[in-house]
Amino acid sequence: KLLADFQGTALIEQQLSQKLGIARCIVLPGNSDKQYRVIDSFGQRLNQLLGTILPNGKNLIAVTGGSTLARVARNLSPILSKNRDLLFLPARGGVGESVIIQANSVCAEMANRTHGQHRALYLPEDISERSFESLQKESSIKSVLDLIYKCNVVVHSIGTASVMAERRNLSDVDRLKITNSQAVAEAFGDFFDQNGQLVYKVPRIGLHVRDLANIEHVVAIAGGASKASAIKAYMKNAPAHTVLITDEGASKMILRDN
Ligand code: G3H
Repeated sequence: KLLADFQGTALIEQQLSQKLGIARCIVLPGNSDKQYRVIDSFGQRLNQLLGTILPNGKNLIAVTGGSTLARVARNLSPILSKNRDLLFLPARGGVGESVIIQANSVCAEMANRTHGQHRALYLPEDISERSFESLQKESSIKSVLDLIYKCNVVVHSIGTASVMAERRNLSDVDRLKITNSQAVAEAFGDFFDQNGQLVYKVPRIGLHVRDLANIEHVVAIAGGASKASAIKAYMKNAPAHTVLITDEGASKMILRDN
């Protein structure tokens, strides 16, 4: 029975990678919409994956925020720091959303759990173009941004557009834009419709989806049947070397639709 389960999962993982057009999918049992422990299992699996793919020595790991990664972070372990120097960095600014799920907090938690280091980016979420220009030159911000642009690993989640439009403190006008454009997915402040078209962008400092192509290891983590359409839409833009950690809830739904 165990072998049959294993072969079944391997087949689903292969079909899912093919459907999404990415290098690899890791599918864990359950549906994280209903069971939080599934998100813990994402964290344990991430720990294992990073343990096999990260080189010895220095690693710069950029991470995004959100409730998924906040919980994933608690499942990393010091084993990852064996023969490695880990520096966790927030992939983008994002002060403004709830503190516990900010990228800064996720970084701090990951560093704490792995006995690594972290840096914070104290930047509001929704800054104007002008402040953006001048803040980018501030040395405390510039030094972190320089590190972010040099990262060799990114760990990010994928959000449901409507949920993220609420969370990101957007103006009514911008929220309406997102609703009218029928956005379904969000990642790195970019909103996509079901065809993968970029329909709205939160003007924030840090990594963008387009930067991922040049980063050696890209791991996306998102699960739950409710995230199926967000995952599908986002993956139309994801670099082909992306590894997705997800669950049966999301993957069954993705494989079901055409
Ligand atoms: O930055 C937020 C993510 O894209 C999704 O957040 O894990 O709370 O759904 P979540």
